[in-house]
Amino acid sequence: MTTETKPVALVTGGTSGIGLAVVRDLARRGHRVFLCARTEQQVKQTVEDLRAEGLEVEGAAADVRDAASVKALVAAAVQAFGPISVLVNNAGRSGGGPTADLTDELWYDVIQTNLNSVFLLTREVLKNGGLEGASYGRIINIASTAGKQGVVLGAPYSASKHGVVGFTKSLGNELAPTGITVNAVCPGYVETPMAQRVRTGYAAAYDTSEEQIMQKFTSKIPLGRYSTPEEVAGLVGYLTTDVASSITAQALNVCGGLGNF
Ligand SMILES: NC(=O)c1ccc[n+]([C@@H]2O[C@H](COP(=O)([O-])OP(=O)(O)OC[C@H]3O[C@@H](n4cnc5c(N)ncnc54)[C@H](OP(=O)(O)O)[C@@H]3O)[C@@H](O)[C@H]2O)c1
Repeated sequence: MTTETKPVALVTGGTSGIGLAVVRDLARRGHRVFLCARTEQQVKQTVEDLRAEGLEVEGAAADVRDAASVKALVAAAVQAFGPISVLVNNAGRSGGGPTADLTDELWYDVIQTNLNSVFLLTREVLKNGGLEGASYGRIINIASTAGKQGVVLGAPYSASKHGVVGFTKSLGNELAPTGITVNAVCPGYVETPMAQRVRTGYAAAYDTSEEQIMQKFTSKIPLGRYSTPEEVAGLVGYLTTDVASSITAQALNVCGGLGNF
């Protein structure tokens, strides 16, 4: 595959956990991958590390909550690699607590980071990133099993991810005739830095140890363990293939059986 024919992917939150595994998987499948996260040093280091693995990767610091930052990010990706054909909206945050005690700040930030960002990125990549009118395209939103089931002490997170699933189904139907598919990938429990922070939060909320929380969560998973970032990335990679062309407007779980629908 020559550089000119390699498809271009943009992955948000590509410096850690699931996003990093997605960047690596897509680059290994022959994509040129542009990644972002807020922490500039982490972006630089990640790009450097992945290039050392022989992968074609570029990146920039960006905040997906901010429309101007999103605009600059998409412009930078197009400038580096050309029109984008795969967008992976992965950047996200956890957040919750007893609902009566939630601050406005927390609620709005979770919705801004997890849901409004998906709209901002998607619109920008369609309008100015080269996706609108393309004969092939993939929009893949990393939602959660919490986007289909309620999570105790996770109302803002669960609401944001339900929103992502709804947006995905609606846009998937809208774009179905065009050759651009739109799907949500819904991880259950995946071992990442975010998962560690979530366990710390629940341990404090229930006044127990992180080990107890780990045991409680793991016992809910029929497979008996957390999924890996690579297992989530594997489905994202598959969705970019030609044989996945008829999969659109879906929300697909990678969760060891935690979710059943
Ligand atoms: N881990 C799980 O169990 C699990 C389960 C279901 C769904 N998910 C979803 O999977 C996605 C990735 O989660 P993860 O566990 O891999 O998290 P993670 O390890 O915390 O990584 C999050 C990534 O997103 C970036 N990010 C966060 N806020 C951002 C912002 N405002 N703008 C740009 N980048 C931002 C982070 O870098 P900076 O902090 O430097 O910006 C980092 O690169 C999230 O959408 C999450 O909700 C995770």
